[in-house]
Amino acid sequence: MFKMKTPLAAGIAAAAAIAITAGCASTDSADGKVDYTKMSSAELAEYLIFETNSFRLDQPTQEGTTVRDRQVQDELQKVCSETRNRPSPEQAGKIIADARASVQYPEGGIQLGDWKKGRELAWSGFGFRVGHNVDDHSNRDVGGNCYNCHQMATDRVGGNIGPSLTGYGKTRGNNEATRKFVYEMIYNPHTYFPCTSMPRMGANGLLEEQAIADIMAYMLHPDSPVNQ
Ligand code: HEC
Repeated sequence: MFKMKTPLAAGIAAAAAIAITAGCASTDSADGKVDYTKMSSAELAEYLIFETNSFRLDQPTQEGTTVRDRQVQDELQKVCSETRNRPSPEQAGKIIADARASVQYPEGGIQLGDWKKGRELAWSGFGFRVGHNVDDHSNRDVGGNCYNCHQMATDRVGGNIGPSLTGYGKTRGNNEATRKFVYEMIYNPHTYFPCTSMPRMGANGLLEEQAIADIMAYMLHPDSPVNQ
């Protein structure tokens, strides 16, 4: 059911890989163990992530896999890595077509849920973490992590990896086209942005239908703090 392979995880791995290369490449190749200069960048990244014990790859994840499984890139991530997030028109077209095919719409149309619940979910980073403190979702819903990347309402502090979403419903309204766009962005943002860093929260089984509806209400409902 769960297939978490977020671009974010791949990005962190890549950033860590660069740091490691800078630190020890010369030492290791000097003693003849490994010749990094013969590797392609993709081979080097694979080597650093999977072979150097730099990550605790055996740590469990909540979905019953290990960190190692999460580090394996899927096709989309490979294309985005190889092209440095500049896929060819053909590659981008395929990513978008696959993303579209992945979206499952709620029966009875895309409705807004409860913005108060959505507010908590947009803020929360709870869910599917790895390591010693694996989450128990029986008492607490999986969060959306939106504030890690977006500013939304101004009563909380958000990140700037993604654009500010402050006043989103106020400026865009709450018509069917807007609801469809926002739903698809949350479900699988590769529908619009082939190599985005925004996670596929519906397609990867992180956010359930009700959670998406609640977060959408938080973004679009006129009473939500996002639109004050
Ligand atoms: C890891 C960072 C990250 C997280 C987490 C994230 N986003 Fe995004 N989001 C982005 C980026 C980056 C973009 C811009 C698209 C691009 O160029 O990649 C974006 C774009 C969007 C857009 C489109 C904005 C527009 O131009 O109209 C919406 C809507 C959106 N995000 C909603 C959300 C919601 C809701 C959540 C939480 C459920 C969320 N995002 C979580 C990074 C993130």
